[in-house]
Amino acid sequence: MTGQVASTPFVRAGVIGHPVSHSLSPRIHSYWIKRYGLSGSYQAADIPPESLEGMLSALIRRGWRGFNVTVPHKRAVMGLCAELDDTARRVGAVNTVVVDVRGKLHGSNTDLFGFRENLRRGAPEFNPASGPAVVLGAGGAARAVVESLIDSGVAEIRLLNRTMTHANALAQTASFPSRVRVSSWEDRHAALSGAALLVNTTTLGMRGTSPLDLDLSALPCEAVVNDIVYAPLMTDLLIRAQSRGHKIVTGLGMLIHQARPAFSAWFGTFPDVTEELCTELLSVCGEHS
Ligand code: ATR
Repeated sequence: MTGQVASTPFVRAGVIGHPVSHSLSPRIHSYWIKRYGLSGSYQAADIPPESLEGMLSALIRRGWRGFNVTVPHKRAVMGLCAELDDTARRVGAVNTVVVDVRGKLHGSNTDLFGFRENLRRGAPEFNPASGPAVVLGAGGAARAVVESLIDSGVAEIRLLNRTMTHANALAQTASFPSRVRVSSWEDRHAALSGAALLVNTTTLGMRGTSPLDLDLSALPCEAVVNDIVYAPLMTDLLIRAQSRGHKIVTGLGMLIHQARPAFSAWFGTFPDVTEELCTELLSVCGEHS
């Protein structure tokens, strides 16, 4: 033995977006770096779309080992990846990239994991085989939710969105199109009949927007209601669902859980979700101010 202490290499990672200052990812990853005593950093980089390739190459030259991707780069980064995993291909967007030793980018989408884990932990009694799931919205988050529900074995996904063409496009490109039934937005109240799960993926209910206009009276009382909006944590939808006796699942967990596989890929530790982290994020979201 030489008496030398092996030093762990300093790992740099971050999030790219435009704008990016609102992102909670630096809080989440920095919390875990500190909690697990790791040697590394996680920073936000604001990259306008026209500078994506050049600024990204500069960050990689400066030693970034990986990064999260947020609006508006989730699709553009797909084209820069040397390899896309199944999750990225199915969702049609990349939110996590690992940079290998040759500087090549490997893209994935951890929102499927984030949604699944949040639902699993928030409503352990939910049985995907117990009935149809209603998904409201057809944006990027809805794609991840639909694919995750397909993976879980949900046989019928009722998809409703303000712009029906967006819902049809999602359904046609889903990995199991026959399980996704599109209805018009006006039919959303009736679509709740017999459902085992309701998921709101629209931005309605988010602070600064209108509440989701949805009559819950047709929803069976055993149905689980999940809103992926997390600011506020208790949306109007969740408050009304809770008062009807439904099991509710809030949206913050999806954000935190989607960060876990990414953190693991870069820093080598699969992190856990603590009360302390949730409280910190809620205070940033203005819940406990
Ligand atoms: P995300 O990536 O979080 O899914 P997004 O891709 O911008 O965000 O999607 C936002 C979703 O909220 C869409 O389904 C959008 O419906 P459209 O496809 O018709 O745009 C939905 N949404 C936004 N504002 C809405 C409103 N006022 N009424 C109904 N749906 C709305």
